[in-house]
Amino acid sequence: MNRIFSVIFWATILSILSCSTKTRVIQKYTTTDPFIEGLISKMTLDEKLGQMTLFTTDWESTGPTIRGGYEDDIRKGRCGALFNSHTVAFTTRLQKIAMEESRLKIPLLFGYDVIHGYKTVFPIPLGEAASWDLDAIEKSAYIMAKEGAAAGLHWTFAPMVDITRDPRWGRVMEGAGEDTYLGSEIAKARVRGIQGNSFDKADRLIACVKHFAAYGAPFGGRDYNTVDMSERMLREVFLPPYKAAIDAGALTVMTSFNEYDGVPASGSKFLLTDILRNEWKFDGFVVTDYTSMNEMVAHGVVADEADAGILALQAGVDMDMQGAIYQEKIKKGLKTGEITMEHIDRSVRNILKIKKKLGLFEDPYRFSNPDRERQTIMNPEHLTIARDVARKSVVLLKNNGALPIPAKVRKILVAGPLADDKDNLTGVWSASGEGRHCVSLLEGIKSHPASGAIEITHVKGCDIDSDNKSGFDEALRAAAGADLIVLAIGEHKDMSGEAASKAMIRIPGVQEALLEALSATGKPVVTIVMNGRPLVLSKVHEKSAAVLEAWWLGTQAGNALADILFGDYNPSGKLPISFPMHEGQIPVFYSHKNTGRPFDPNSKWNTKYLDLPNDPLYAFGYGLSYTTFSYSLPGADRTDFSGSQSVSISVDVKNTGNYDGEEVVQLYVRDLVGSVTRPVKELKGFRKIFLKKGESKTVRFTLTPADLAFYDRNMHWVTEPGEFDIFVGSDSNTQNKIRIRYSK
Ligand code: NOJ
Repeated sequence: MNRIFSVIFWATILSILSCSTKTRVIQKYTTTDPFIEGLISKMTLDEKLGQMTLFTTDWESTGPTIRGGYEDDIRKGRCGALFNSHTVAFTTRLQKIAMEESRLKIPLLFGYDVIHGYKTVFPIPLGEAASWDLDAIEKSAYIMAKEGAAAGLHWTFAPMVDITRDPRWGRVMEGAGEDTYLGSEIAKARVRGIQGNSFDKADRLIACVKHFAAYGAPFGGRDYNTVDMSERMLREVFLPPYKAAIDAGALTVMTSFNEYDGVPASGSKFLLTDILRNEWKFDGFVVTDYTSMNEMVAHGVVADEADAGILALQAGVDMDMQGAIYQEKIKKGLKTGEITMEHIDRSVRNILKIKKKLGLFEDPYRFSNPDRERQTIMNPEHLTIARDVARKSVVLLKNNGALPIPAKVRKILVAGPLADDKDNLTGVWSASGEGRHCVSLLEGIKSHPASGAIEITHVKGCDIDSDNKSGFDEALRAAAGADLIVLAIGEHKDMSGEAASKAMIRIPGVQEALLEALSATGKPVVTIVMNGRPLVLSKVHEKSAAVLEAWWLGTQAGNALADILFGDYNPSGKLPISFPMHEGQIPVFYSHKNTGRPFDPNSKWNTKYLDLPNDPLYAFGYGLSYTTFSYSLPGADRTDFSGSQSVSISVDVKNTGNYDGEEVVQLYVRDLVGSVTRPVKELKGFRKIFLKKGESKTVRFTLTPADLAFYDRNMHWVTEPGEFDIFVGSDSNTQNKIRIRYSK
C-alpha cells in the first residue's frame, strides 16, 4: 500500500513540477484510484498500449479489415478489449486467456454493436424515434442491454445520436432523425436504458455515444464524406444530443470518420479535449471508430500511421479500434517527445476505471452465466415489449377510411415482395437477431384472431429490386377476388446502414408499378412501406387508399402490423424526419431559416424552386391516427416574463373522432427578432397523451428562459429579450400559436 501511495505522491509532485499547461489540463479530469494507480505502476509500456487496443474477433466483420492473432495479443497483454465477440461460451474462452495466461490478468472488455436489440430485435432506431415515446425507447434499450449482458457482453456501441437532415445517408436508420430536441431526449432515454444506475446485477451495458461529431452531415449524404459547417451550426444543432447522452451518464464516446473544420475527428483536439473533456467534463474513455486513426493518413493530415497515432493521442483518443497503431506504432512519439507517458497513463486510467466500474476486477466472469443467457435471451416478456414498441413506431401517413380494416371486408389479398419476407425485418445492425425469428406480415395477419372470418390470399407480385413484371398477372387475378389489398413494398434491409448511401431514394424495381396496377383495379390498396430511410413516396401516396410507414420493425413486425390493420392498436407514430417530395429538395427540414426572401408563390424573387414546392411530402412531426384531435388556442399564465421566470403554456386537446387514441402534442418556438437569424420553428417540448373517444385533456408545458436561448453574435449562449411565437399542435406545420415577450 505504502508503495502505491508513494507512487501517487511522486507522480503528482513530478507532474506539477514538470508539466506544461497542456498536461495540467489532462490532470483536471482524471481521478486517482489507488487500485488503478497501483496497477498502472506495474504495467510495461506494451501492456499499457495493450489496454488502449481494441480488436475485432474473426466472428464477424463490421469494417474493412480483420486482423488475426488477437488471442496471442491477449496472452501477451497487448490487447485489452475485443468486439464482435459475444455469447457466454465465446467470451468466456477469451476471458480465460486473459485471466490465466497473461502476466497481469487484467480482464478483457467485450463490445458489440447492439443497436436495436441483441436477439429480440426492436424497430430500427429511426423507427423507434417515430414513437416519440421515451419510456418505450428506454425500455427497449434496457432489454437489448439485458440480453447483450446475458450473452457475455459489457459494452455496446450505442446510442448513435448523429442528427441528420439527409435521407440519402444510409445511416439515417440508426439515429433519431433531424431534430436536436427530440434527438437529445431520445439520446438520454437510450443511455438510461442501456446503462441504468448501476452494474450490480450485471444486466446493463456500458453505452458508447457515437459518432463524435457531426457524422450525420456528409456532403451529398455520401457516407464517410467531408463535413463542413459553421461552429454555430455544430454547437446548436449537432452537438446537443451527444452532450445530452454524456449528461445522462454515458461512459464512452466513439469518434467519427469525418473531418470537422479541416481536422479528422479522431485527431481533433477541438472536439475531443476542448469540448468533450474541458467544456463537458466527460470522464469516461474515447474510442476511435474502425481504423479511423489510420485513415487520417488518407485524409492527408499526417504522413504515416505513427503520426496519426500521435495526433490522436494528443487530441484525446484513449482506445484505438482495429487500427493497431497504439499497439505497434505510437512508441515513436515517446522518443520524439511529442507524447509523454502521462498521455498514455491518462488513457489507460480512463479505460481501467470503466473495467472497474463493471466489477470485472472482482469477478471477470460476472457476465458469463450460461443459465442466465438461456433464460434471458428472447424470453416471452421481451417479445411482448418488442411487439408494443413496434406498434408504437408505425406512422399512418394517409388514410381515406381503408383502415382499420372494416368489418365488411371478407377477402384480403396480401401482396408485395415484403409481405412474407422475414430476413429483411430485422433491418441492419441487428446484432445476433435472425430473420427466422421474425414474424412476417402475412404470418401476423393470418394468426390474428380477426382474420379467422376472412379469406386471406397471398401473392408476391415482384421482387424488391428487379424489373421483372411476370408476377403481376397472378397478383391482378388475385386482386379481382379481393375486397382489400394489403401491399408490402420497400427497400432491402442492406439498402440502408453503414456504407449504404443512395442518390435516388425511391422504392426500387417495379414495386411502384405493381402498386399502380393493383390500384387500377379499383380495389382499395393499403400500402405498407418497409425501409430504413425516408423515401420519395409521392406515387405511393397518390395510388394508395392508406399508407403505413413501417420501417424495419424487428422480431415482432408482423404481429405489430396486424394489430394496427385490425384496429387493436390505433397508430400514434409521428415522423422524426421530413420525407421529401423529390431528392432535389434535400436537405429539407422543418427548422430552416426564414431568409430575406421567404417563399411567396406570387413573386418571382423569392426562395423557391421553379419545378418543385419547398415543402416536403410529409413534414417532421406528421402522423395520422384512426381518430381525430382538435386543439384549442394555446394559453399562457403570463405573456410577459422576465429574468429567471418561466411561463406555463397550456392547450386543450380533444379526441373528436370515433376511436380511443394517442396524440403527440408538440410545442415549437420561434424567436421573432434575434441578434442572429433564428429558425422559423424549433421543437422545445412534446407530450404523448392518451385520450378516450370524446375525452379532452389540458396539456401544460413549462418554458424557461433557457428554452429560448441560442448562441448570439459573439457565440455566447444567451436568452435575448424580445417576442416569441409559441406554437402547439400535432406536427411541425402547425400555426396554432400564442405570442409571449421576454425581458431581462
Ligand atoms: C464502424 C461503425 O461506423 C461504428 O458505428 C461501429 O460501431 C463500428 N464500425 C464497430 O462495428
